[in-house]
Amino acid sequence: MKHNFNAGPSILPKEVFEEAGRAILNYNNTGLSILEIGHRTPLFQAVMDEAIGLTNELMQLDDDHSVLFLHGGATTQFFQVPMNLLNENETAVYLDCGVWGTKAIKEAKLFGQVHVVASSKDKNYTYIPRGYTIPADAKYFHYTTNNTIEGTEMLEIPETNVPLIADMSSDILSHVVDFNRFALIYAGAQKNIGAAGVNLVVLRKDILGKVNRKLPGMMDYRQHIEAGSMLNTPPVFAIYVCLLTLRWLKKQGGVAGIEKVNKEKAGLLYKTLESKQGFELPVAKEDRSRMNVVFRIPDAALEKKFLDACQQQGMVGVKGHRSVGGFRVSLYNALPLESVKALTTLINEL
Ligand SMILES: Cc1ncc(COP(=O)(O)O)c(C=O)c1O
Repeated sequence: MKHNFNAGPSILPKEVFEEAGRAILNYNNTGLSILEIGHRTPLFQAVMDEAIGLTNELMQLDDDHSVLFLHGGATTQFFQVPMNLLNENETAVYLDCGVWGTKAIKEAKLFGQVHVVASSKDKNYTYIPRGYTIPADAKYFHYTTNNTIEGTEMLEIPETNVPLIADMSSDILSHVVDFNRFALIYAGAQKNIGAAGVNLVVLRKDILGKVNRKLPGMMDYRQHIEAGSMLNTPPVFAIYVCLLTLRWLKKQGGVAGIEKVNKEKAGLLYKTLESKQGFELPVAKEDRSRMNVVFRIPDAALEKKFLDACQQQGMVGVKGHRSVGGFRVSLYNALPLESVKALTTLINEL
């Protein structure tokens, strides 16, 4: 048995793999594969409708918000957001908390003025800045809720009247939060939502239609809303896997249900790492991510012992991102508590 701590694409529930496997061979006893049905057929429309409906339900969205399933991953949202929302002479405010936020900032600068209101770069992004003021006239405020590579997370929503935009790629649907507070949320699906190849975008319609540049159809959120996420052929299989994962999440008691398990998993692992000699936790305690646990083992012999034990016991994906080194263990929704228990036992026995 493998314990999959990969950062993304990452573990999905076993029943999702089983059902998706069956659907490739024979979707819902139609005698057809999910891969060969037209996206405009009633069969696929039902998949899209249920996926959107479940997203609305699990996120408890109000009627002002629309749910889209788009291509291009979160990286496309780095530029699609400013392209749709920011005029050249207007200023958007960004928080700089890591590699992904930095990329979003770089892309936004192509379209308008960017004000980086705070950054944790001075300490290698090991904390979340506090005490900054978001200028009231900003077009929007953008931040990354969970910094996948650095292992920090912002569980609370900043107090501001400025439209909030969040990259929630690596902690969406993992804890209860008022999603309606956001003007726009985006997330690559390949961690907590489903399979790589699709991107969830949730947005409030009233923020659209205010830029004076021309938008290519595929970049224009309004056209996607009008077309029900089917402006062109959508990534049908990835959306189907999202649907199965959302159904599974509902069965776990929804976001509140999974939050309990997520807290337990992260609590157990951090406690074990804190008490184990030779292991270092670089992230400020109050900003530690529940999704991506980052640590280091400075002693080369102990590091090797840990890695060998991981390999022997089928623990995969524990190495840190290539840009930071060390270790990173991802505890996304679908990772069972048993896997964390197996890892903590391994650490304690080193
Ligand atoms: C927080 C965050 N934002 C953006 C991305 C980029 O996502 P994608 O590869 O889907 O473009 C990632 C990928 O891991 C991420 O963790």
